[in-house]
Amino acid sequence: MVGHFHDLACDDAFQHTARLLAQFSYAYRVTHDVYTVALNLDALPQCRRQVSNSAEHGRMEFMSDSWDDSYTRPDPAPWDIGRPQPAFARLAEAGLLRGRLLDSGCGTGEHTLLAADHGADATGVDISPSAIATARAKAAARAEESGGPAPARFEVADVLDLPGLLDTFDTVIDSGVFHVFSDVDRPRYVASLASVLRPGGTCYLACFSDRQPGTWGPRRVTRQELRAAFAVGWTVESIAAEAFHVNPVQGTTQVQAWLAAIRRD
Ligand SMILES: C[S@@+](CC[C@H](N)C(=O)[O-])C[C@H]1O[C@@H](n2cnc3c(N)ncnc32)[C@H](O)[C@@H]1O
Repeated sequence: MVGHFHDLACDDAFQHTARLLAQFSYAYRVTHDVYTVALNLDALPQCRRQVSNSAEHGRMEFMSDSWDDSYTRPDPAPWDIGRPQPAFARLAEAGLLRGRLLDSGCGTGEHTLLAADHGADATGVDISPSAIATARAKAAARAEESGGPAPARFEVADVLDLPGLLDTFDTVIDSGVFHVFSDVDRPRYVASLASVLRPGGTCYLACFSDRQPGTWGPRRVTRQELRAAFAVGWTVESIAAEAFHVNPVQGTTQVQAWLAAIRRD
């Protein structure tokens, strides 16, 4: 693939490779591979820089399109259940979704709105414009019902580049986002979260678990992987066995998850 890359003009290389890979892979895997190829062009520093910039720009568009597809199909995505996950509902009831709160990869905003209902100053961000449009419509409907202002803010943003928000938060929640990232993007994601969560703030993160049998769906995450990802600059306070509730898929409505509470040092 890299040899083929060298035969192409740098500006075209990313798009061409993305198209080739897109025929065979899921969005996050494509992103991972293209990004890895771009970063490995050590022999051609100038070309590498151009391809890398192009890859970043293209990655954002490509990921946005692929994730957006999940929100424009007639049937809702498996995770888009139209209500908060019970794990986050319990956190809210316990008063833990508080302060300035960021819902990272918020989808259609159920957890952002849940946090807002419990008094948080809540912001949801997602790379999918359609998901954000739906979340904003839910917020507007609730504002109309209550006669008050919109309960939460929603923005299209890449959670791998949260410093771009120019904001900091007391609490971050992640329902089903950590596990979508490749090995390359995982440390970027953790660094991105670290850049917006204030010291002492807590990230509550629910991800697909290695306890889930079978191979369908997102990659499985082990507790060791979670501890390793947050080993520096964070304290992993707990990792508990949980369940994601999903729209019926493969004959099931619940899948195994981990719920981690991770404090920023
Ligand atoms: C499994 S869904 C979970 C959505 C939501 N948290 C929920 O519980 O319904 C993963 C979400 O991550 C979003 N996402 C994936 N990569 C992203 C990125 N780089 N930046 C922002 N959002 C991203 C997707 O658009 C999708 O909404």
